[in-house]
Amino acid sequence: MNLSGKKILIAVSGGIAAYKINLLIRDLVKKGAEVQILMTPSAEQFVSKLTLSVLSKNPVYSDFYDQNGTWNNHVEFALWADVIIMAPCTANTLGKMVHGICDNLVIATYMSARCPVFIVPAMDLEMYQHPSTKQNLEIAEDFGHFIIPAESGELASGLVGQGRMAEPETIARTIEDFFTTSSSKNLVGKTVLITAGPTYEAIDPVRFIGNHSSGKMGFALAEEAAKRGASVILISGPSAEKVVHENIELFRINTAKEMFDEVFRHYENSDIAIASAAVADYAPKETATEKIKKSGNSLTIELVKNPDILATMGERKTHQFLVGFALETQNEEENAAGKLQKKNLDMIVLNSLRDQGAGFRGDTNKIKILTSTEKQEFSLKSKDEVAKDILNFVEIKILK
Ligand code: CTP
Repeated sequence: MNLSGKKILIAVSGGIAAYKINLLIRDLVKKGAEVQILMTPSAEQFVSKLTLSVLSKNPVYSDFYDQNGTWNNHVEFALWADVIIMAPCTANTLGKMVHGICDNLVIATYMSARCPVFIVPAMDLEMYQHPSTKQNLEIAEDFGHFIIPAESGELASGLVGQGRMAEPETIARTIEDFFTTSSSKNLVGKTVLITAGPTYEAIDPVRFIGNHSSGKMGFALAEEAAKRGASVILISGPSAEKVVHENIELFRINTAKEMFDEVFRHYENSDIAIASAAVADYAPKETATEKIKKSGNSLTIELVKNPDILATMGERKTHQFLVGFALETQNEEENAAGKLQKKNLDMIVLNSLRDQGAGFRGDTNKIKILTSTEKQEFSLKSKDEVAKDILNFVEIKILK
């Protein structure tokens, strides 16, 4: 891919893998990117500023002040960059990033940035395995950063295992992929509201009524919409999925009622709303305050209907483009078309449980999209690809 016009800031910290950054810079510059290097003071022990400067065709900075006393403005570097690559990222730099220990130019720049950040860890075997490293990487992921994991192989210490910095080609390819998939920016300025996951309706403090929804489809939709430039409000029931993109605001709820309340805090200001959550249709009338003890041979729990969030969105629709999901086992198209009309939707995504690989839990899905006048069928794909198909369809409708 041509990276011309892309502004890439590489923050080098003090690890032996720093020497490999020369190859990364050469590759990115060859592809047309503008590259700016910053380094931590200890990185200077591993690679020469002169080499990095010659290859990047830019001065390299490691301190807040130059020898002649000029202020190196970290905010300017941060705002200049389209992406920041922290490579190699040592345990020390990672720890500082996660905990806001801002004692050098690299961390000050990182903390001033608004752009996507890629972390390329490099450290010795035990350091990479250490709970603090693992936890810090998880926190960094929760911040919305991308991790390019360390590879396995021989380490500088002579030990063999995971910890080696990803190869420069791998880093360059990841950055190219990022720019390719984020290049469709058709949803800039749009707010997309997405519901995801199951809801859990409490029976007592330890039990609930729920379902097998993983939330994967909704999270994949959120990521894809965010990549296309949308501001995404993601309202999810209990799910192990994590949000990566910084344009996604995640609200975690448990019950259908909580999802209902959260949805209608945002619905009015949304342009597109997609209900992919598997909302429990009924909830226990009463939630016991203490754990229900077993007694007798049967137990009856009275259930009452939950609010239909999507149907209410349909009723309150003013300008929103409204998308629902239907999971059916029989008379699929007829049922989906019925829901489209009854809930006042613009489009419905149908999964049939009769199709292998479709529906809950798995990483794949097979869908049909229906509007009041059209029908389009798609093949079995990963949920990430399905998210693209759904948003392509939405874009065609709203941009027409
Ligand atoms: N949905 C919702 N709130 C509910 C129930 C469903 O927002 N209380 C949404 C789902 O997110 C999905 C769509 O409605 O987008 C279809 O849900 P589904 O459960 O298949 O349809 P129902 O209308 O509940 O009909 P049935 O269960 O009878 O098939």
